[in-house]
Amino acid sequence: MQSIILTRPDDFHLHVRDGEAMASVIQASARQFARAIIMPNLNPPVVTVHQAIDYRERILACLPKNTSFMPLMTLFLTEQTGVSEIAMARDSDVVFAAKYYPAGATTNSENGVRSIERISPVLEALEEHGLLLLMHGEVTDPSVDIFDREKVFIDTVLLPLLERFPGLRVVFEHITTSDAADLVMHGPENLAATITPQHLLLNRNALFAGGLRPHHYCLPILKAEAHRLAIVNAATSGHPRIFLGTDSAPHARHLKESVCGCAGIYTALNAMELYADVFENEGKLDKLEAFAGHHGADFYGLPRNKDTITLIKEDWTIPESVPFGADKLVPFRAGEICHWKFQ
Ligand code: NCD
Ligand code: ZN
Repeated sequence: MQSIILTRPDDFHLHVRDGEAMASVIQASARQFARAIIMPNLNPPVVTVHQAIDYRERILACLPKNTSFMPLMTLFLTEQTGVSEIAMARDSDVVFAAKYYPAGATTNSENGVRSIERISPVLEALEEHGLLLLMHGEVTDPSVDIFDREKVFIDTVLLPLLERFPGLRVVFEHITTSDAADLVMHGPENLAATITPQHLLLNRNALFAGGLRPHHYCLPILKAEAHRLAIVNAATSGHPRIFLGTDSAPHARHLKESVCGCAGIYTALNAMELYADVFENEGKLDKLEAFAGHHGADFYGLPRNKDTITLIKEDWTIPESVPFGADKLVPFRAGEICHWKFQ
């Protein structure tokens, strides 16, 4: 039987929610990954170091005592975030990055940033203290076509920002377009990107295959096939600043299957298997280890993990749903055959 052994990977973009919902999903990530960058878009969001420390405690309290999983916390940037909070974050050993959400871009982002100019002092503080800036890379102007929002973000927000802060380490989160892939692959050393399994596996036709598919709806939205091919190429290229971030974003089934379904796809259940599928299809399984376990740690300045995981080539059926607190959660590719299995 075919099997692959990899450095234990890290997930550099993960939503685990809170409370009972978190208790239902956290173990899936802790099983596969050594560490995860935890997104701060709770309701209300995690805006202070104290809140991040409390949230981290709640995450650890959900896990068995002997677990070695490390949540790496982030702060949700608002126009009220103070530079002193960034200095505290640097000293905390708990907070590793700050997350930029354009106001209204996605789930629980109402308190995000309306104009990046207004957070200049905070960006300077991040640069000075060596914390990373994680960017939801889309503009939110409703007059911009939803499929163009990443490209317009590059031109109007990201390029000027990189010019102004050449020492700020920026992660362009969940890239979906050839424009983003080109920029990161040929761009400055302080710019990196994460890529999700769904953007590698699906193009936008999947949103409408035989009817409206709410479980394929996430933000940034799935793009056209040419863009998918460009990010597959980027992910499997071995580029040192492109790495794994699932953006696993669980929502209760009834909130997805609704007249106004929310954005987010749950991939944590079998994240590494999904990525293995992509890399295998490209004949690039040899590039999976660095994408999943080396590049992110290197960019964040963290030690690489020492232990390993094993994936075996074995078919199993992804469940139709899993418990999510008192609700149900539909995993990505529910009911379909998964060709890899995490041991
Ligand atoms: C995320 C969520 O549900 O929290 N949803 C998503 O579609 N990716 C928010 C986000 O990361 O944009
Ligand atoms: Zn996300």
